[in-house]
Amino acid sequence: MKVSVLFVCLGNICRSPTAHGLFQAYVNDAQLSDDIFVDSAGTGAWHVGESPDKRAQSIALNKGYDISHLSGRQVEPDDFFTFDYILAMDTQNLHDLTSIRPKQSKSRLGLFLELANEGIADKQVLDNTLEVPDPFYGDAEHFEKAIHLIETGAKNLLERIREKYDI
Ligand code: 4NP
Repeated sequence: MKVSVLFVCLGNICRSPTAHGLFQAYVNDAQLSDDIFVDSAGTGAWHVGESPDKRAQSIALNKGYDISHLSGRQVEPDDFFTFDYILAMDTQNLHDLTSIRPKQSKSRLGLFLELANEGIADKQVLDNTLEVPDPFYGDAEHFEKAIHLIETGAKNLLERIREKYDI
């Protein structure tokens, strides 16, 4: 593996498994699954071992991505030494990750959309946001918005990683 990416949200049942599944699909399509390792986790432990939220699963499946096989887990200290990128869905996730990050960690920790969309001029297309808002207490519209942001972000992230690692 040349590079590893961990997507992180609060519960690891809505946003980060969606990012995990979509980004993995783009990696597979580009035949880069031997070069790029993908995973996801939550800052919280409530949903450890659970499948993604049914709403997240069905909205992803509507777009052709099956995320039903993913299973929730919590971020652990080792992640800060295993992953090159640890990408938070919102600023609260980033804050929580920053507070548990071991000092010696060399992982690049940041907001998923900030890193993914860095340097992309058309911010309107990207909805002018650096966060993927939590859809858990929302309705279908919130899940649609989340997957839209994640789809664009995951495609842009792969482009950036391919350029940086020359793969
Ligand atoms: P996620 O959404 O962080 O995108 O997975 C949530 C899932 C569960 C909870 C909150 C957010 N919860 O409070 O259980």
